[in-house]
Amino acid sequence: MAKATCPDALMPLVRANANARTEWISQVAGCGSALPERRVTNHELSTTVDTSDEWITQRTGIKERRIAADGENTSDLALRAAQSALTRAGMCGADVDLVVVATSTPDRTMPSTATRVQGGLGMTRGIAFDVQAACSGFVYALSVADNMVRLGQARTAVVIGAETMSRILDWSDRDSCVLFGDGAGAVVLRAVRYEENTTQQKGILSTHLYSDGRHQDKIYTDGGTSSTQTAGKMHLVGREVFLHAVVNLAQAAEEALAANGLTQVDVDWVVPHQANRRIVETLGEKLRLPKEKIVLSVGHHGNTSAASIPLALTDAVDDGRIKADDLVLTVAMGAGFTWGSALIRW
Ligand code: ACO
Repeated sequence: MAKATCPDALMPLVRANANARTEWISQVAGCGSALPERRVTNHELSTTVDTSDEWITQRTGIKERRIAADGENTSDLALRAAQSALTRAGMCGADVDLVVVATSTPDRTMPSTATRVQGGLGMTRGIAFDVQAACSGFVYALSVADNMVRLGQARTAVVIGAETMSRILDWSDRDSCVLFGDGAGAVVLRAVRYEENTTQQKGILSTHLYSDGRHQDKIYTDGGTSSTQTAGKMHLVGREVFLHAVVNLAQAAEEALAANGLTQVDVDWVVPHQANRRIVETLGEKLRLPKEKIVLSVGHHGNTSAASIPLALTDAVDDGRIKADDLVLTVAMGAGFTWGSALIRW
């Protein structure tokens, strides 16, 4: 019998797509977001939960979050965000051939939320599927879509992070219920040819993804289709998540910059997952990045899981902070643990 050969000996593992010189690169053509109407302030929350505005503000920086109305589903928010991003990109559903939705709160167990969005966009062709990587979901979805664009499997992709986190919160668990909110954000990617002789290539320069399943019990729901036939409610070991988050986010950021031969000084904007202001500020200190370069939206969104980065990106584009040619570093960390980064020349 032939001796099995260790695949490692044949194929070195490429940890990121930074140096993969493909014919195509994904450029950002537009972004958009959608939020439910209803704002819930810390004061309002403290009338039903044993908490206070002072505690939530000091520990997290969160002042308010949006909560979806009855009957308002993840796909509704995702569709609105996608439509907004496409309008800003000067495109419509007929131009799209890939929809990827990052979510932990799908409308249904099946079909995917992405196919519901695809139907809503009026698309009659293309590919649509969901990605589940909790709060890292948007970076994971962006990486998958970017790789498909690089390989020529898609020319125009809509990458969406969308969540109705309020549906999996235990409103009697003050450790977790005060932290989260609902919303959606989307980015349109379009394939353009690599420019061979440029020092400032625009587009997604690299994505780095990581996970470590030894920590799967640090943030979890106590249910699921296969185990309890219900979605379950969220639980977390906040302090441990906090400590791992800072280390993992910094690793993902540093590896992204190193892979592209860049340093912190080159970065115009860091758009991190919005879990907690203290996590983000500690990350900034660890990376020696001035506060002014860090986009923070957790105060008015709460932690919207996979939606947090595209929501923050859209805020910063709308108010004129992120401009064409800026170097934008996104980093995320979430349940699993999962974490990752994407470095984008806007
Ligand atoms: N209101 C008032 N008091 C509260 C609340 C609340 N909502 N929640 C907890 N407390 C109390 C606790 O009971 C505890 O009381 P005790 O000292 O009498 O026992 C006290 O506040 C301190 O609790 P800690 O957990 O030590 O507070 P900490 O400073 O660690 O902050 C927090 C908690 C905000 C959850 C922080 O650890 C955190 O943000 N962690 C990460 C959040 C997270 O897990 N997000 C999941 C998504 S992914 C990601 O985050 C990257």
